[in-house]
Amino acid sequence: MKSSLNVEPLTGVLGARLPGIDLKSDLDKELLASLRATICEFEVVIIPDQILTPKQQVEFSHLLGPYSPVPFVKPIDEHAEVIKVVKENTEPEAFNFGGVWHSDFSFLPIPPAFTILYAIDVPSIGGDTVWASNTAAYSHLDSKTQTLLNGMSGIHSASASYSPDQQDLHSQLSNMTIETSEKAKATQEHPLICKHPETGKPSLFFNPTYVRGLKGPELKTEEEENLMKWLNQWTTGIQFTFRHKWSPGDLVIWDNRSTQHIALNDYKGARRELNRTTASDSVPPSPY
Ligand code: SIN
Repeated sequence: MKSSLNVEPLTGVLGARLPGIDLKSDLDKELLASLRATICEFEVVIIPDQILTPKQQVEFSHLLGPYSPVPFVKPIDEHAEVIKVVKENTEPEAFNFGGVWHSDFSFLPIPPAFTILYAIDVPSIGGDTVWASNTAAYSHLDSKTQTLLNGMSGIHSASASYSPDQQDLHSQLSNMTIETSEKAKATQEHPLICKHPETGKPSLFFNPTYVRGLKGPELKTEEEENLMKWLNQWTTGIQFTFRHKWSPGDLVIWDNRSTQHIALNDYKGARRELNRTTASDSVPPSPY
């Protein structure tokens, strides 16, 4: 049993590596509380050298929060709470799951607090994941822009990703089953500047995939499109990012309340397989 975490920060903005821990045996109550605080502080943590069955991954996820609903993506047969993110080496190059900037399922009334992704088979070159800190994207704004954005909300929807007109795209994935639906067109409003429920820090709760519109007392329709484009560029700026090269056995946990991410699609002819679980938040996003 370990008594403390070994935390190695990976950039000056977000990301930390936590080596020398076995998630199956080392987590007593104190270490779990410390792990949770470390995830919230660093926003993405890499825990290398794990050996986890789907059931063991679910047991670990439950320590961070109850199962968070997974719409549209069919879980694996072995466990109803696990989805497999997999791209076979024979699949067309053009599309990969998660290959656009997003925060997981931000269109839900209560989006998942954490995603837990466990690497099984990864390309020797390529297939990295990149995260951007929405906390840094907010704190680096000038105060005038912070004030302008503070009263606004984002209109989140899965319409551009999981509507029936996207089915052909998803059907290219030979080993993942994604069932698009008219339900994807539903919308969910969340504050644009949110207060993190655990750290109290403000973050710019924006991602270009699921935020399909903005609402604000002073926002004119003709300004909305430009502001969306600007938010897309600003929040994904390289200065707010951290990039991870996967090794088998890596378990990565990220905080969806303060980050967005993208899975890079640069491994033509190679295979990539990871198991994913999500842990629920207990409260909906709230304004700062
Ligand atoms: C995801 O968006 O959940 C998948 C990320 C990845 O495959 O790296």
